Amino acid sequence: MTSHATLIIGANSEIAKAIAVQVINDETRQLIVISRDCSFYQQEQFANAKVISIDNYQEQAISQAVENLKASMSVIITQVFICHGILHNERCQPEKRLEDFSAEMFIETLTANTITPMLWLKHLTPLLATKYGCKVVIFSARVGSISDNKLGGWYSYRASKAAMNMLITSAAVELARRAKNVKLISFHPGTTDSPLSKPFQKNVPQGKLFNSQFVASQLLAIVESAVVDGQASYLDWQGKKIPW
Ligand SMILES: NC(=O)c1ccc[n+]([C@@H]2O[C@H](COP(=O)([O-])OP(=O)(O)OC[C@H]3O[C@@H](n4cnc5c(N)ncnc54)[C@H](OP(=O)(O)O)[C@@H]3O)[C@@H](O)[C@H]2O)c1
Repeated sequence: MTSHATLIIGANSEIAKAIAVQVINDETRQLIVISRDCSFYQQEQFANAKVISIDNYQEQAISQAVENLKASMSVIITQVFICHGILHNERCQPEKRLEDFSAEMFIETLTANTITPMLWLKHLTPLLATKYGCKVVIFSARVGSISDNKLGGWYSYRASKAAMNMLITSAAVELARRAKNVKLISFHPGTTDSPLSKPFQKNVPQGKLFNSQFVASQLLAIVESAVVDGQASYLDWQGKKIPW
Protein backbone atom coordinates (compact mmCIF):
# COMPACT_ATOMS: atom_id res chain seq x y z
CA MET A 1 0.00 0.00 0.00
CA THR A 2 1.26 3.51 -0.80
CA SER A 3 1.98 5.48 2.32
CA HIS A 4 0.47 8.97 2.43
CA ALA A 5 2.39 11.75 4.10
CA THR A 6 1.58 15.04 5.80
CA LEU A 7 4.23 17.72 5.36
CA ILE A 8 4.34 20.55 7.91
CA ILE A 9 6.53 23.55 7.10
CA GLY A 10 7.43 26.16 9.70
CA ALA A 11 6.84 23.26 12.06
CA ASN A 12 7.95 25.08 15.19
CA SER A 13 4.79 27.20 15.09
CA GLU A 14 2.51 26.52 18.03
CA ILE A 15 -0.34 25.49 15.74
CA ALA A 16 2.01 23.41 13.57
CA LYS A 17 3.18 21.45 16.64
CA ALA A 18 -0.43 20.65 17.57
CA ILE A 19 -1.12 19.42 14.01
CA ALA A 20 2.03 17.28 14.19
CA VAL A 21 0.95 15.66 17.46
CA GLN A 22 -2.37 14.65 15.91
CA VAL A 23 -0.81 13.40 12.68
CA ILE A 24 1.85 11.29 14.42
CA ASN A 25 -0.94 9.46 16.21
CA ASP A 26 -2.60 8.59 12.88
CA GLU A 27 -1.10 5.25 11.87
CA THR A 28 -2.16 5.66 8.25
CA ARG A 29 0.06 8.71 7.73
CA GLN A 30 3.75 9.49 7.61
CA LEU A 31 4.77 12.82 9.18
CA ILE A 32 7.41 15.09 7.64
CA VAL A 33 8.33 18.36 9.35
CA ILE A 34 10.57 21.22 8.26
CA SER A 35 11.68 24.02 10.56
CA ARG A 36 14.62 26.14 11.64
CA ASP A 37 14.09 24.80 15.16
CA CYS A 38 13.31 21.09 15.31
CA SER A 39 13.90 20.65 19.06
CA PHE A 40 10.22 19.84 19.71
CA TYR A 41 10.54 16.86 17.36
CA GLN A 42 13.37 15.27 19.36
CA GLN A 43 10.71 13.73 21.60
CA GLU A 44 10.30 9.96 21.50
CA GLN A 45 6.77 10.23 20.08
CA PHE A 46 8.24 11.63 16.85
CA ALA A 47 10.74 8.81 16.38
CA ASN A 48 9.04 7.77 13.12
CA ALA A 49 8.73 11.30 11.71
CA LYS A 50 11.08 12.61 9.06
CA VAL A 51 12.55 15.78 10.51
CA ILE A 52 14.27 18.27 8.20
CA SER A 53 16.16 21.13 9.74
CA ILE A 54 16.66 24.24 7.61
CA ASP A 55 19.07 27.13 8.30
CA ASN A 56 16.90 29.88 6.82
CA TYR A 57 14.12 30.42 4.31
CA GLN A 58 16.16 31.80 1.43
CA GLU A 59 15.15 30.29 -1.91
CA GLN A 60 18.40 28.29 -2.12
CA ALA A 61 17.68 26.60 1.22
CA ILE A 62 14.06 25.93 0.28
CA SER A 63 15.08 24.39 -3.03
CA GLN A 64 17.70 22.23 -1.27
CA ALA A 65 15.17 21.04 1.32
CA VAL A 66 12.75 20.01 -1.44
CA GLU A 67 15.58 18.17 -3.24
CA ASN A 68 16.34 16.29 0.01
CA LEU A 69 12.68 15.46 0.31
CA LYS A 70 12.56 14.10 -3.25
CA ALA A 71 15.70 12.01 -2.81
CA SER A 72 14.38 10.26 0.25
CA MET A 73 10.75 9.95 -0.77
CA SER A 74 9.07 6.62 -0.50
CA VAL A 75 5.75 8.27 0.32
CA ILE A 76 3.19 10.42 -1.47
CA ILE A 77 2.55 13.84 0.08
CA THR A 78 -1.22 14.37 0.21
CA GLN A 79 -1.39 17.14 2.82
CA VAL A 80 0.82 20.20 3.26
CA PHE A 81 0.59 22.85 5.98
CA ILE A 82 2.65 26.01 5.46
CA CYS A 83 2.59 27.78 8.81
CA HIS A 84 4.90 30.81 8.54
CA GLY A 85 3.73 34.05 10.05
CA ILE A 86 5.14 37.02 11.93
CA LEU A 87 3.13 39.86 13.45
CA HIS A 88 5.76 41.31 15.76
CA ASN A 89 9.33 40.70 16.76
CA GLU A 90 12.13 42.45 18.61
CA ARG A 91 12.43 45.00 15.81
CA CYS A 92 8.79 45.64 14.96
CA GLN A 93 5.26 45.91 16.29
CA PRO A 94 2.10 46.01 14.18
CA GLU A 95 1.33 49.56 13.13
CA LYS A 96 -1.46 51.49 14.89
CA ARG A 97 -1.27 54.52 12.62
CA LEU A 98 0.28 55.60 9.34
CA GLU A 99 3.27 57.18 11.09
CA ASP A 100 4.27 53.72 12.40
CA PHE A 101 4.69 52.30 8.91
CA SER A 102 8.28 51.50 7.98
CA ALA A 103 9.81 50.04 4.85
CA GLU A 104 11.94 47.68 6.96
CA MET A 105 9.00 46.19 8.83
CA PHE A 106 6.93 45.89 5.69
CA ILE A 107 9.69 44.06 3.84
CA GLU A 108 10.42 41.76 6.79
CA THR A 109 6.73 40.88 7.25
CA LEU A 110 6.16 40.39 3.54
CA THR A 111 9.22 38.17 3.30
CA ALA A 112 8.13 35.86 6.12
CA ASN A 113 4.38 35.83 5.51
CA THR A 114 4.12 35.96 1.74
CA ILE A 115 7.35 35.35 -0.16
CA THR A 116 8.45 32.37 1.93
CA PRO A 117 5.17 30.41 1.59
CA MET A 118 5.08 31.23 -2.14
CA LEU A 119 8.61 29.88 -2.62
CA TRP A 120 7.57 26.63 -0.95
CA LEU A 121 4.57 26.39 -3.27
CA LYS A 122 6.81 27.01 -6.27
CA HIS A 123 9.32 24.31 -5.35
CA LEU A 124 6.85 21.76 -4.02
CA THR A 125 4.30 21.81 -6.84
CA PRO A 126 6.07 19.23 -9.05
CA LEU A 127 6.10 16.87 -6.08
CA LEU A 128 2.43 17.30 -5.28
CA ALA A 129 0.90 16.84 -8.72
CA THR A 130 0.25 13.12 -8.37
CA LYS A 131 -2.79 11.00 -9.11
CA TYR A 132 -3.50 10.85 -5.38
CA GLY A 133 -4.28 14.55 -4.99
CA CYS A 134 -2.91 16.93 -2.42
CA LYS A 135 -4.45 19.57 -0.20
CA VAL A 136 -2.19 22.48 0.60
CA VAL A 137 -3.05 24.77 3.52
CA ILE A 138 -1.33 28.12 3.70
CA PHE A 139 -1.93 29.99 6.93
CA SER A 140 -3.53 33.34 6.34
CA ALA A 141 -5.66 35.44 8.70
CA ARG A 142 -9.08 37.05 8.55
CA VAL A 143 -7.37 40.46 8.62
CA GLY A 144 -6.04 39.62 5.14
CA SER A 145 -9.56 39.98 3.77
CA ILE A 146 -9.80 43.30 1.89
CA SER A 147 -13.60 43.31 1.88
CA ASP A 148 -13.78 42.51 5.61
CA ASN A 149 -11.38 45.29 6.68
CA LYS A 150 -13.36 47.53 9.01
CA LEU A 151 -10.71 48.26 11.65
CA GLY A 152 -7.63 49.23 9.63
CA GLY A 153 -4.19 49.30 11.25
CA TRP A 154 -1.68 46.42 11.23
CA TYR A 155 -0.69 47.62 7.75
CA SER A 156 2.18 45.25 7.09
CA TYR A 157 0.56 42.11 8.50
CA ARG A 158 -2.78 42.76 6.77
CA ALA A 159 -1.08 43.53 3.45
CA SER A 160 1.16 40.46 3.66
CA LYS A 161 -1.85 38.18 4.19
CA ALA A 162 -3.92 39.95 1.51
CA ALA A 163 -1.00 39.51 -0.90
CA MET A 164 -0.73 35.86 0.07
CA ASN A 165 -4.43 35.45 -0.66
CA MET A 166 -3.95 36.96 -4.12
CA LEU A 167 -1.01 34.67 -4.81
CA ILE A 168 -3.08 31.67 -3.72
CA THR A 169 -6.03 32.56 -5.97
CA SER A 170 -3.67 33.12 -8.92
CA ALA A 171 -1.86 29.85 -8.25
CA ALA A 172 -5.19 28.02 -8.09
CA VAL A 173 -6.05 29.27 -11.60
CA GLU A 174 -2.73 27.93 -12.90
CA LEU A 175 -2.94 24.65 -11.00
CA ALA A 176 -6.44 24.01 -12.34
CA ARG A 177 -4.67 23.64 -15.71
CA ARG A 178 -1.35 22.11 -14.65
CA ALA A 179 -2.05 20.10 -11.53
CA LYS A 180 -5.77 19.51 -11.19
CA ASN A 181 -5.33 17.34 -8.14
CA VAL A 182 -3.89 20.09 -5.96
CA LYS A 183 -6.31 22.04 -3.74
CA LEU A 184 -5.17 25.30 -2.13
CA ILE A 185 -6.70 26.50 1.15
CA SER A 186 -6.00 29.86 2.72
CA PHE A 187 -6.75 29.33 6.41
CA HIS A 188 -7.67 31.59 9.32
CA PRO A 189 -7.17 29.73 12.62
CA GLY A 190 -8.96 32.26 14.81
CA THR A 191 -7.08 33.92 17.65
CA THR A 192 -4.96 31.12 19.02
CA ASP A 193 -2.70 31.08 22.04
CA SER A 194 0.82 31.23 20.56
CA PRO A 195 3.90 33.48 20.61
CA LEU A 196 2.42 35.37 17.64
CA SER A 197 -0.76 36.38 19.47
CA LYS A 198 0.67 36.64 23.02
CA PRO A 199 0.93 40.45 23.24
CA PHE A 200 -2.59 40.91 21.82
CA GLN A 201 -4.63 38.49 23.89
CA LYS A 202 -5.99 40.75 26.62
CA ASN A 203 -8.86 42.16 24.53
CA VAL A 204 -9.94 38.81 23.14
CA PRO A 205 -13.51 38.07 24.30
CA GLN A 206 -14.02 35.19 26.73
CA GLY A 207 -14.04 31.84 24.92
CA LYS A 208 -12.55 33.31 21.72
CA LEU A 209 -8.91 32.55 22.48
CA PHE A 210 -8.39 29.03 21.18
CA ASN A 211 -5.75 26.57 22.15
CA SER A 212 -3.68 25.10 19.35
CA GLN A 213 -5.01 21.55 19.91
CA PHE A 214 -8.56 22.73 19.17
CA VAL A 215 -7.49 24.59 16.03
CA ALA A 216 -5.46 21.60 14.80
CA SER A 217 -8.50 19.27 15.21
CA GLN A 218 -10.74 21.71 13.37
CA LEU A 219 -8.22 22.17 10.56
CA LEU A 220 -7.56 18.47 10.05
CA ALA A 221 -11.31 17.83 9.79
CA ILE A 222 -11.67 20.74 7.30
CA VAL A 223 -8.84 19.39 5.16
CA GLU A 224 -10.23 15.88 5.24
CA SER A 225 -13.59 17.03 3.92
CA ALA A 226 -12.29 19.64 1.44
CA VAL A 227 -13.12 18.86 -2.17
CA VAL A 228 -10.38 19.13 -4.78
CA ASP A 229 -12.29 21.44 -7.13
CA GLY A 230 -9.62 23.47 -8.93
CA GLN A 231 -10.38 26.55 -6.83
CA ALA A 232 -8.76 28.23 -3.86
CA SER A 233 -10.79 28.37 -0.64
CA TYR A 234 -10.44 30.99 2.10
CA LEU A 235 -11.76 29.34 5.24
CA ASP A 236 -11.88 29.99 8.95
CA TRP A 237 -11.53 27.52 11.81
CA GLN A 238 -15.21 26.56 11.49
CA GLY A 239 -14.75 25.74 7.82
CA LYS A 240 -16.80 28.85 6.94
CA LYS A 241 -15.90 30.84 3.85
CA ILE A 242 -14.28 34.26 4.38
CA PRO A 243 -14.85 36.89 1.67
CA TRP A 244 -11.59 37.59 -0.16
N1 LIG B 1 -2.06 32.70 16.59
C1 LIG B 1 -3.05 33.43 16.09
O1 LIG B 1 -3.87 34.02 16.82
C2 LIG B 1 -3.21 33.56 14.60
C3 LIG B 1 -4.33 34.26 14.10
C4 LIG B 1 -4.49 34.39 12.73
C5 LIG B 1 -3.55 33.82 11.87
N2 LIG B 1 -2.46 33.17 12.39
C6 LIG B 1 -1.49 32.61 11.45
O2 LIG B 1 -1.26 31.24 11.76
C7 LIG B 1 0.09 30.88 11.40
C8 LIG B 1 0.77 30.15 12.54
O3 LIG B 1 0.85 31.05 13.64
P1 LIG B 1 1.23 30.62 15.13
O4 LIG B 1 0.27 31.37 15.98
O5 LIG B 1 1.35 29.15 15.25
O6 LIG B 1 2.66 31.34 15.23
P2 LIG B 1 4.01 31.03 16.01
O7 LIG B 1 3.85 29.94 17.01
O8 LIG B 1 4.53 32.34 16.47
O9 LIG B 1 4.95 30.44 14.81
C9 LIG B 1 5.65 31.28 13.94
C10 LIG B 1 5.82 30.63 12.59
O10 LIG B 1 6.42 31.55 11.70
C11 LIG B 1 7.66 31.06 11.20
N3 LIG B 1 8.59 32.19 11.16
C12 LIG B 1 8.96 33.02 12.18
N4 LIG B 1 9.82 33.96 11.73
C13 LIG B 1 9.98 33.72 10.39
C14 LIG B 1 10.74 34.33 9.37
N5 LIG B 1 11.52 35.39 9.62
N6 LIG B 1 10.67 33.82 8.11
C15 LIG B 1 9.86 32.75 7.85
N7 LIG B 1 9.14 32.11 8.78
C16 LIG B 1 9.18 32.59 10.03
C17 LIG B 1 8.09 29.97 12.15
O11 LIG B 1 8.90 29.04 11.44
P3 LIG B 1 9.98 28.04 12.16
O12 LIG B 1 9.27 26.74 12.40
O13 LIG B 1 11.08 27.88 11.18
O14 LIG B 1 10.39 28.73 13.43
C18 LIG B 1 6.74 29.40 12.55
O15 LIG B 1 6.26 28.58 11.52
C19 LIG B 1 0.75 32.19 10.95
O16 LIG B 1 0.68 32.29 9.55
C20 LIG B 1 -0.12 33.26 11.56
O17 LIG B 1 -0.07 34.48 10.83
C21 LIG B 1 -2.28 33.02 13.72
